[in-house]
Amino acid sequence: MKIGFIGAGNMARAIIAGWLDKKVVAANNIFIHSAHIDRYEPYAKKNGLIACSSNIEVVEHSDIVFLAVKPIILGKVLAEIKATVQMKKPLLVSMAASTSLTDIENEITDSSLEIIRIMPNVNVEIGAGMTAIVGNKNVSEKNLTICERLFASEGKVALIEEKDFSIFSAIAGSSPAFVYFFIDAMARAGVKYGLKKQQATKIAAQTVLGSAQKVLLSDKTPFEMIDEVCSPGGTTIAGLLAMEEAGFMNAVVKGIDATVAKDQGK
Ligand SMILES: NC(=O)c1ccc[n+]([C@@H]2O[C@H](COP(=O)([O-])OP(=O)(O)OC[C@H]3O[C@@H](n4cnc5c(N)ncnc54)[C@H](OP(=O)(O)O)[C@@H]3O)[C@@H](O)[C@H]2O)c1
Repeated sequence: MKIGFIGAGNMARAIIAGWLDKKVVAANNIFIHSAHIDRYEPYAKKNGLIACSSNIEVVEHSDIVFLAVKPIILGKVLAEIKATVQMKKPLLVSMAASTSLTDIENEITDSSLEIIRIMPNVNVEIGAGMTAIVGNKNVSEKNLTICERLFASEGKVALIEEKDFSIFSAIAGSSPAFVYFFIDAMARAGVKYGLKKQQATKIAAQTVLGSAQKVLLSDKTPFEMIDEVCSPGGTTIAGLLAMEEAGFMNAVVKGIDATVAKDQGK
């Protein structure tokens, strides 16, 4: 199976790194092109991928074409590859935020094409991603399964309805940044009390990792788990209440609200 990438930025590289690491796709079956030859060519060479001289050449070589450009560029790219896509009919997979399957169908003007929309996050790079997948009405079970397997090889997959993509994008696509923010805030507090920033960051990150693993392994809700950590009259309940007094829960929900609103163009 030949896989094409139009765009070789952060997300494309994270996805490809996860596959190469797990040996799910052979490097010489990946065809790639982006805007700047001085960026995509050295990257392709270093990883054994095939660098193509145009987006059209990527489509010509590929069974699956991943659209890995910013949403604002997508219309231009689709116009450029449209004729070749209509002739070759590869499976198109878009990861563009805020861009629906209908938006892509309208641009590509071929009602028979199989198109999948995904929302991965950068953790695919280390095999710990969280990716949502939805297909248009033309997508075969076989192609949906291929896509699901590709992303299950580098993390977890959720088959969700397209109406839920905005909230998924907020709590999975954007949220690595929110989690980094939380880790950094804890590490800064560590610095305030005399720890070195690097050491405090590692301590905070390991604690977030372990706590997330425990939530995933447990049948309990996080709230029940909070109660188990808080001893009566103890330090943790004092910290927790002070965080909530400063608006912790509200700050998180407001952050998600803003992310969803932006995704929906509000
Ligand atoms: N980053 C994330 O965490 C994340 C998460 C979920 C979804 N996404 C989605 O993934 C997509 C890519 O995001 P990103 O973060 O990877 O962006 P990025 O790092 O800015 O990469 C964008 C890529 O598009 C290439 N490009 C620009 N114009 C092009 C053209 N005309 N033809 C071909 N390639 C072109 C750029 O080329 P050069 O490198 O040569 O300049 C670059 O490689 C977006 O639609 C975004 O919504 C991102």
